[in-house]
Amino acid sequence: EKGGYDYFMLKEIDEQPSAVQATLMGHFLDGQIVLDEQRLDASILREIDKVFVVACGTAYHAGLIAKHAIEHWTRIPVEVEMASEFRYRDPVLDRQTLVVAISQSGETADTLEAVRHAKDQKATVLAICNTNGAQIPRESDAVLYTHAGPEIGVAATKTFTAQVAAVLIVALALAQARGTKFGDEIAAEYQMLEAMPALITEALGVVDQVRTLAREIADAKAILFLGRHVGYPVALEGALKLKELAYMHAEGFPAGELKHGPIALIEPGLPVVVVMPSPGGRPVLHSKMLSNIAEISARGARTIVIAEVGDERAAKHAAHLIELPVVPTLLSPLLTTIPMQVLAAEIAQARGFDVDKPRNLAKSVTVE
Ligand code: F6R
Repeated sequence: EKGGYDYFMLKEIDEQPSAVQATLMGHFLDGQIVLDEQRLDASILREIDKVFVVACGTAYHAGLIAKHAIEHWTRIPVEVEMASEFRYRDPVLDRQTLVVAISQSGETADTLEAVRHAKDQKATVLAICNTNGAQIPRESDAVLYTHAGPEIGVAATKTFTAQVAAVLIVALALAQARGTKFGDEIAAEYQMLEAMPALITEALGVVDQVRTLAREIADAKAILFLGRHVGYPVALEGALKLKELAYMHAEGFPAGELKHGPIALIEPGLPVVVVMPSPGGRPVLHSKMLSNIAEISARGARTIVIAEVGDERAAKHAAHLIELPVVPTLLSPLLTTIPMQVLAAEIAQARGFDVDKPRNLAKSVTVE
């Protein structure tokens, strides 16, 4: 039951602290990162020299975040690709390639075919899945289950944040296997991860503010989303949510690309959601992003700025400011995604649509 919430999606947004907490549980034992079902030798993980992340939709956005974490912590090159593209283009794979397949349902046909293709090419496959015993984990060499629990809303929310937690665990597992991080560094990163459920709870404090804002902009004809670094996949996720729930034209861009075309779309009153990087974490990114907001607000955009609490320079450019707790950059999508989810759901609600059952969409896409 909805337990007092207007729709399931809102309940599931609220369940993200426990989804992340349950996903983290049991993966750091005696100073070691451990996966769930690991039907492969540790020596195989040590020899990996290339990673592909394959997934669809929202899970693909978790994959884009995986790339940042894996490359940063392990120095192994990572490619992220939509499963439907990967499968039909003859990707270069061999025994030293790890394919990470991310799928909430574990039954998505495109992702399953990508897994089969990877296995045929002798690559090692690690699945990240929310459904015990589903086809994708069954056919993979190793599994990391997300423990978000069943998700009733068709749009992915808590399963996405659980996937983000899972890819961070995988990145640490690879760093451990490859020796690119020492035990105490891995322990320190894991401790940060373990602090996230409480910080997500704190971030959920913005829900009412975002719901009110959503109702104010519900009749916009389009909304743009801008991000950089890990904020870019979050921008893509914000746009996807808005398309699928509110049937509104929405696009996510890397903010640096603005001047190469998309800035032509900016017109007075157009809502633009900007995911600010932390000024402490990546100062260069932060200042670049400030110039991007200045450019769009000069052209009359209605800026909705998602920033770290206390980021006064970002606040100056914000028509609407949404403040989130301070966290390390790689972990920030666990918080910045929340306003995206609420915005899309509440705009859909204001427009009179069924938030939990958007038109034309199915929870599990078992046909290619
Ligand atoms: C978006 C959404 C879809 C799924 C995609 C993959 O809210 O739910 O984009 O993320 O269909 O599904 P899974 O993760 O089951 O493979």
